[in-house]
Amino acid sequence: MSEEVVNTAQAQVWNGPAGQRWAERDERFDAVRGGFDRAVPDLVRPGDRVLDVGCGTGSPTRGAARVSTAATGVDLSEPMLAKARALGGDPTPAYLPADAQAHRFSPGGFDLVVSRSGVLFLADPVATFANLRAALRPEGRLAVLVPHGLGEVGDLLTRVVPGWEPLSAGPLSLSEPDVARRVLADAGFADVAAEEVHAWQVWGGDPDDAAEFLLSLAWQAITRARPDATGAELLPLVRAELAGRGSRLRASALLLTAVA
Ligand SMILES: C[S@@+](CC[C@H](N)C(=O)[O-])C[C@H]1O[C@@H](n2cnc3c(N)ncnc32)[C@H](O)[C@@H]1O
Repeated sequence: MSEEVVNTAQAQVWNGPAGQRWAERDERFDAVRGGFDRAVPDLVRPGDRVLDVGCGTGSPTRGAARVSTAATGVDLSEPMLAKARALGGDPTPAYLPADAQAHRFSPGGFDLVVSRSGVLFLADPVATFANLRAALRPEGRLAVLVPHGLGEVGDLLTRVVPGWEPLSAGPLSLSEPDVARRVLADAGFADVAAEEVHAWQVWGGDPDDAAEFLLSLAWQAITRARPDATGAELLPLVRAELAGRGSRLRASALLLTAVA
């Protein structure tokens, strides 16, 4: 990325081993979050020029492109974008390596801005959403999904490791409807709404597989609360929690909508 990046810490994370790992296992991450996809394509209209923010490996971008025919994904992670490009799509979306907070988008160049968990880790959320608003034509629309609490996965981990906490506030930064609505209003958006939507997160093919994936993602946070924790101790507990549930856990998101 040759241009300005203000979210430097995030750029390091998503261009480092974490971004590489996600890109390599993107089907697994899609299975966890894919249930929420239904909420956004309904809002895409044929002919819309769609911008998908923090597009990652591009699953929502490809979904938007199928309806709109002109979708662009912006992300500051080269590994994620490389995977998105390799996955193609019909029609193929365009991808832009850039920081959504700092990039000078063509003013009014989009009809719809979407995002699935791509606007959570921002140094300055108001500045970012103001920048995205400038990228929308007058009356252009915003429809972004953000997690609303940690859902059943949070409850499960708390039962298994009492006192554990997520490593960063990022994933929950817009989790409260009042906070999210204020950020969008301060960025100049009108008709701001926050609707709670629910979906199943599929953590794996069977409870063993799901338990391993879930624990691997939460391991750093778990060991901060319980430095002595071992997989031998926790894996059977998480497997038992998932047994009989089809390895699925219920989660909530907020669908934030607004007009430029
Ligand atoms: C949790 S992932 C979600 C990826 C994708 N939207 C999905 O649902 O599969 C967050 C993505 O946002 C990107 N991201 C974080 N901050 C960003 C920023 N300021 N500008 C552009 N992309 C950003 C990360 O690189 C990462 O790919």
